[in-house]
Amino acid sequence: MTPDFIIQTAYFAAAFLFIYGLKRMSSPVTARSGIVWAGWGMVVAVLASFLYVLDVNESAKPHLTTNIVLVAIALALGLGWAWRSGKKVEMTAMPQMVALYNGMGGGAAAAIAAIELFGYKTHGSIVLTMAVLGGLIGAMALSGSLIAWAKLDGRVNGTWRFSGLQAVNGSLLLVLLAMGGYTIVQGGEVSHAFIAVFFILALFYGVMMTMPIGGADMPVVISLYNAFTGLAVGFEGYVLQNPALMIAGMVVGSAGTLLTLLMAKAMNRSVSNVLFSNFGAAAEEEGEIEGSMKPADASDAAIQMRYASKVIIAPGYGLAVAQAQHKLFEFVKLLQANDVDVKFAIHPVAGRMPGHMNVLLAEAGVPYDIIYDMEDINEEFAQADVAVVVGANDTVNPAARTNKSSPIYGMPILNVDKARQVYVVKRGKGKGYSGVENELFYADNCNMVYGDAQKVMVDMLTAVKELEGGGH
Ligand code: TAP
Repeated sequence: MTPDFIIQTAYFAAAFLFIYGLKRMSSPVTARSGIVWAGWGMVVAVLASFLYVLDVNESAKPHLTTNIVLVAIALALGLGWAWRSGKKVEMTAMPQMVALYNGMGGGAAAAIAAIELFGYKTHGSIVLTMAVLGGLIGAMALSGSLIAWAKLDGRVNGTWRFSGLQAVNGSLLLVLLAMGGYTIVQGGEVSHAFIAVFFILALFYGVMMTMPIGGADMPVVISLYNAFTGLAVGFEGYVLQNPALMIAGMVVGSAGTLLTLLMAKAMNRSVSNVLFSNFGAAAEEEGEIEGSMKPADASDAAIQMRYASKVIIAPGYGLAVAQAQHKLFEFVKLLQANDVDVKFAIHPVAGRMPGHMNVLLAEAGVPYDIIYDMEDINEEFAQADVAVVVGANDTVNPAARTNKSSPIYGMPILNVDKARQVYVVKRGKGKGYSGVENELFYADNCNMVYGDAQKVMVDMLTAVKELEGGGH
């Protein structure tokens, strides 16, 4: 068995593990193990790369003998940093972390391209085209993802626009394509300064593309950059003739593209609308909302639910902030013990990352058969005695249906307002992610249960337990 045979077999195994892992991620039941499978794929791919050291005879292949110390330092730094940040990251800060990792992937692809282009290696035009495209897309995904991270993390606020921005961005892209085309036509024989300017402009383009996009659209943007990173990695995999990189890149690229389209659909917007319009930052003309917000006690709300026959819960970002999922599920079990039919309604962009609510509920042990996607449960709200909104806001805002001037207009929402009685659990008058007032809170059939979601759930539990204790 030659080292090359072992390397190729290991890459094949790694590619299989990536795809199998991704397949398992398609259901919440198997998702956790999917991550582990794909992680093993990564371990196999990294180890296989070290075998190049043995493969020194094939001088056409890159080998690691000269750089082994640098590689070991890079791996140790990367592992240490990722381990530490992965351990301590809050669930609510996960999208930022994904943005950072995604940027690193794009940067790594751009770095491969830079080595190839700066190294004046002799390449055919196809390989050169792949290197140039991968470099452009990777550099753009790096700087764009970093801006997305800064926006999600609250380090950069607001959107940044000026008239003619699209024209500037369009021209910038044309310049980049022209420079890339020139590099290819010249067979890569262009000056170092030229290549450096190409990369700097590509990085700048990523910044210019992302700065004008509002925070509420960042998840879609991150997912799009994820697709870009996959594409860039796939291209550079071709340059290096590395099948594991090619397959992993294509898997990430297609998964990222699908996720982008699904998220845009969930917000009822096209991807180009996300990229080129100003969601959330539009001067919002909010009329006066009629009615008033009516507070209610947690105990009264709990007792009404205890005697209801059908209750639907709409969880949102506040549930994650309060980490109230365990107490919420305890309360649900108490209701179920009293023959109440309880279901969870999940909005596709509830929380701050795709599947955020599913992850939280799975963590608390909520069985999957009482968790429903929006389109499967929206009709049922009309038959519900009580709808409880726990820390959600935008995803239950009826303005999305009716108010054309609202930045969330057109986004499908959970029909909680159709239930006979609505209780909204939140701390105060805080707005949702999009910063829009919510007319649901003023509706006749709606009452506000103010407080941190965890505390409210404890109060609700206590109220029902006391009722039952008193009843015996
Ligand atoms: P949001 O609209 O963000 O509203 C969350 C509400 O939770 C706030 O109004 C806040 O009100 C309340 N809250 C915060 N901490 C709380 C706590 N400890 N206890 C109780 N309530 C608390 O939530 P949503 O309905 O889930 O909507 C998600 C929004 O985020 C959408 O606009 C979506 O587009 C956007 N987004 C989604 C994603 C993905 S992919 N899911 C990623 C980024 C952004 P108080 O301050 O009054 O308590």
